[in-house]
This record gives sequence, structure tokens and C-alpha cells, in this order.
Amino acid sequence: MTKIKVKNPIVEMDGDEMTRVIWAKIKEQLILPFLDVDLKYYDLSVTHRDETDDQVTVDSAKATLEHGVAVKCATITPNEDRVKEFGLKKQWASPNGTIRAIMDGTVFRKPITLQSIPPAVKSWKKPITVARHAFGDIYRDQELVVEQPGTVELVFTPAGGEPQRLTINDFQGGGVVMGMFNTDKSITSFARACVTFALGEKMNLWFGTKDTISKKYHGRFRELFQQEVDRRKAELDAAGITYSYFLIDDAVAQTMKNEGGYLWCCMNYDGDVMSDMVAQGFGSLGMMTSVLVNPDGKYEYEAAHGTVTRHFRRHQRGERTSTNSVASIFAWTGGIGRRGEMDGTREVTAFARKLEQAVLDTIEGGTMTGDLVPLTTLSNPKSVDTWEFLDAVESKLRASLG
Ligand SMILES: NC(=O)c1ccc[n+]([C@@H]2O[C@H](COP(=O)([O-])OP(=O)(O)OC[C@H]3O[C@@H](n4cnc5c(N)ncnc54)[C@H](O)[C@@H]3O)[C@@H](O)[C@H]2O)c1
Repeated sequence: MTKIKVKNPIVEMDGDEMTRVIWAKIKEQLILPFLDVDLKYYDLSVTHRDETDDQVTVDSAKATLEHGVAVKCATITPNEDRVKEFGLKKQWASPNGTIRAIMDGTVFRKPITLQSIPPAVKSWKKPITVARHAFGDIYRDQELVVEQPGTVELVFTPAGGEPQRLTINDFQGGGVVMGMFNTDKSITSFARACVTFALGEKMNLWFGTKDTISKKYHGRFRELFQQEVDRRKAELDAAGITYSYFLIDDAVAQTMKNEGGYLWCCMNYDGDVMSDMVAQGFGSLGMMTSVLVNPDGKYEYEAAHGTVTRHFRRHQRGERTSTNSVASIFAWTGGIGRRGEMDGTREVTAFARKLEQAVLDTIEGGTMTGDLVPLTTLSNPKSVDTWEFLDAVESKLRASLG
């Protein structure tokens, strides 16, 4: 079989534990036999990040900005236990956080849906993609426990100007207080990334805040989002994409009775909460993809789940594992399909779609990993191990490529 030539490079970020083992196998079995592709490889395993003082993470993010497309395996974000386990120099920051900051990106999480795995919400027919503004608000706040009577004020001191003061509360006793912020630049970047993504995926845009209550803070988000939508109105109109603004509570209610198929753009906390609700509502973590998009249209694809440590321990002991590889395969196909679109090479994009179809057909045909068995409506599902699933996908893929 002649390999399909991929015109420009794809950045590959390797990772940790069970997903690292599966990642290598996907590459060797489902990608490299079919594609002639220049993979710019970065080893983001926790030990290599440690050896390079995390420079490899920075380099991989910069390479993504240069080449435009990356695929990433799940990685360990070290906590105290991991520092001891691997003898690390320190508790390195989350690689995803570092990459997000360098790319100035927004995270989009999209479930992979199947006929035979019905969503928990009856009305959902198409995937709902959640875009989370991953900067600021309560994630970068200052908090205070008030333990005695006193006044809490909000003070803004303009550079070279007189301070402005607002009283937050005159405390008569104990209480709590929080100060948080966001920036016009970050909100606008978020809106830009959302519009770019909606155009790329041809999905309608939803955005919700609580601007009836928070007229200035939430109101600013609404205003800047609207400005970005207005700026790109011609592109959105040409693609037939609509923009709907809701109060956040209305957006939640509408989501429960809508058939899906839209991009739900959320402020930071809302996105944190709603992406987990949507993920669980559609079935399994192993079926949730995640893509980081920057405002200039650079993409990094990955699975939404972690390194599946529990399965890795079993794998290390030589025991059978039945780890779901679907989201990792879709990370590869997301990147390959996007590369094909950016390069104008239809055969590359078509390969990505065929591999995705081979995965879906394998599951719809009744062959699946253990996590999906309790969720399927099929009467006789065959629960296979990690490697048998990949073998089944490979044979479907080979059949579809002819
Ligand atoms: N994007 C990332 O790189 C990312 C995201 C989350 C966690 N992590 C890292 O992953 C490690 C493990 O974290 P965790 O256990 O909280 O998250 P996890 O996603 O690895 O596992 C959470 C639970 O879901 C199950 N699960 C997840 N993916 C599965 C799959 N593909 N097939 C079958 N079952 C699956 C696991 O068995 C476990 O019960 C941590 O070191 C964490 O830092 C990385």
C-alpha cells in the first residue's frame, strides 16, 4: 500500500503511563503504516520534563505555533506523591497549563457520540462542544476570611491617578470576601478562538453569562464577545452560523431540551462545571476529546482524560487491561484531519475520517473496551482488551482503505 503524503509537519507530544503505551501503539499500528508524515517529536513524559527543567514543554508549544498542528498524549501533572515516585527536582507546573499560556489558547471539549451509546439526556442527538475560557475569575482570585467587624473595600489605583474606592461590605462579624479579575485581552482572545472554532467546525455559537446581576463584570464579557461576533459577521453569515446569547441559567435549561450540535462558550467556572456535566451526560471519559485552539487558528488535539494510572499499574504487573483508546485515536485523527485541511490535501483529511469511522464501526459492531459495555444498548457486546480493540480497528481501517 502506498503511503499518503502529509505535506507539512505535525508536532507530536508524547506523555505518560497507560496513555503513553497506547499512544505508541496507535502510531505504530494505525498511523505510520498509512501516512508518510514528518512528526516533530517532543517527549513530555514527566521524567524528561524534569531532565530538561520543563524546557521541552515550552519547546513543544513553540513548535505548535510554528507548524500550526499538534497531537498530545496525556501527561502527569506532578503532585507531592509523584515528586517522590519519580525523584523529581520539583513539582513542575501542568504541561497543559504551560502550553495553554504560550499558545494563548481556549480549550474545546467534544464528546464522540455513537448510536449504541445513548446520552443520559434524551433530547441530545448531536455532540455538544464546551468551550471554556481558561483564564482568570475565581482561578486567579484573592480571598480573605474576615474574623472581626470591619469594612472591606475594592480599591483601584490608576497609574499616576487618584484611587477609586467602592465599599464591598461593612462586616458586623465574621465572613468571607473574594476579589477576582479578567482582562479585555483575554476575553477577546477567548471570543476570537470560539468564533474561529465555530467556523472551522461549522457549529452555531452559544454564549451565556449572568449579566442581569453582574452588569459590569459579566456585562463586559457579553459586550466583548458580541464585538468579536460583529467583527466576523460576514464570515459567520457566509457559513450560515448563528450566534445566540443567553442568561447562563437559560443556557443550562435550553441545553437540557435541545438536540445539541452547538458550541457552548462558557466563562471559566461555568466551563469547568458544564464540561464535566456534558462529558458524563454523553457517557465515558474515554470518549471525550479536547482541542486547544489559539486565536490565530493553531491547534493542539488530545484526549480529555488523564494517563489512566490504575490501568498502567495492571499493565506493569503483566495483567490484562481494557483501556479505551478512542479519545487518543481521535486526538491523532483530529490533528491529521486539520493538517489536511490546512494544507489543502483532501486525501489526508479523508484518511483521518476513515480511521474515525473504523473506530465507530468497531464499537457499533459490538466490539468495545470494558468501560463501554455497561453503557451500550447492543444486546451482546464483546468486551475486548486494549490491544484486541486496536486490532479490530486496524482490520476495519484496512478494509475501508481497500
Ligand atoms: N490532559 C492531561 O494530560 C491530563 C488530564 C487529567 C489528568 N491527567 C493526569 O493523569 C493522571 C491520572 O489522573 P486521574 O486518575 O485523575 O485521571 P484519569 O482520566 O486518568 O482517570 C480517571 C478515571 O477514569 C477512568 N478512565 C479515564 N480514561 C479512561 C480510559 N481511556 N479508559 C478507561 N477508563 C478510563 C480511570 O480508570 C479512572 O477511574 C494524573 O497524574 C493526572 O495529573 C492528565
